[in-house]
Amino acid sequence: MHVTILAIESSCDDTSAALVRNGIVLSNLIANQKVHRNYGGVVPELASRAHQQHVVPVVDQALKEAGVEKNRLSAVAFTQGPGLLGSLLVGVSFAKGLALSLGIPLIGVNHLHAHIMAHWAGEPGKKVKTPGFPFLCLLVSGGHTQLVVARGFLEMEVIGQTIDDAAGEAFDKCAKVLGIPYPGGPVIDRLSREGDPHAFAFARPRIGGLDFSFSGLKTSFLYLVHDEVEKNPRFIEERKADLSASIQHTIVEVLMDKLEKASEQTGIREIGIAGGVSANQALRDALEERAKRYGWNIYIPEFIYTTDNAGMIGVTAYYKYLAGERTGQETVPLARFPM
Ligand code: KG4
Ligand code: ZN
Repeated sequence: MHVTILAIESSCDDTSAALVRNGIVLSNLIANQKVHRNYGGVVPELASRAHQQHVVPVVDQALKEAGVEKNRLSAVAFTQGPGLLGSLLVGVSFAKGLALSLGIPLIGVNHLHAHIMAHWAGEPGKKVKTPGFPFLCLLVSGGHTQLVVARGFLEMEVIGQTIDDAAGEAFDKCAKVLGIPYPGGPVIDRLSREGDPHAFAFARPRIGGLDFSFSGLKTSFLYLVHDEVEKNPRFIEERKADLSASIQHTIVEVLMDKLEKASEQTGIREIGIAGGVSANQALRDALEERAKRYGWNIYIPEFIYTTDNAGMIGVTAYYKYLAGERTGQETVPLARFPM
């Protein structure tokens, strides 16, 4: 018996729909929102409105690309949280209506859980290198920075997290200081390739245990840039690549430092990265370097599954479906939803 799930993701600024059959991703459509570029971050009201415009065409296209008829679906999965309430509400309402009209179950998925499950996402005929359990995952996105131990598909334990900004937020806020539109992370990544990672030094956060802090780093970056611009108004223009490479290097080293500690403390060597920031080349290089140094088996999801996508929601829902987990029609979106 096939288990065919339609999954919807709408937690932030991407509207995505995917068809997942027996844990394999048949289609995975993502509609990005360009409306936030000039605001330095996601504007919740605009995001919610754009989700309303995108959700029907994106779902239609996902069904079409997968060649699946609605009446063949086993369940409808959706991102329940965490995320922006107005954005989540669009996906939750759509999923509820569709499941009700088709008389099939609903499965609510935690967005952070799904980012980790992205390691199990793959398409037909493609072999995915999947981690063994226990698996230690550094989850780095625009909204979250966590160290998670996965003991099974549905058993996640958070062992460390940021006490202020997320790593992606640090990238985006520093990019904004350089006049780069949101989301600046990928631009910093690109600019860094031409820059010197040791050109500038920034005060590293001193947080004990396995927690992270990035707000001080952002402030340190802002002060340095302001001071230098006072002396030379062309400073940003002239040193953009060096500034990018240096802040990127610092963020990556802070992340790696805690990941090393977590591996040491737990004894786990099955190690991966997930979330939007895991697309970052310097982070990937640093992980590979550590893998060689410490004998880690490392895992990085395919690029399409690192940033927000419904494929990862559908894969997570598949394992929940097998475990008999169902969500009632009375369900509501949860802006805060700890794993
Ligand atoms: O996981 P994601 O798509 O959305 C959230 O759940 O937050 O992550 C988006 C974040 C943004 O902060 C973006 O700047 C960052 O991931 N990001 C990157 C790169 N690609 C995306 N940061 C650094 N380097 C990249 N290549
Ligand atoms: Zn995300």
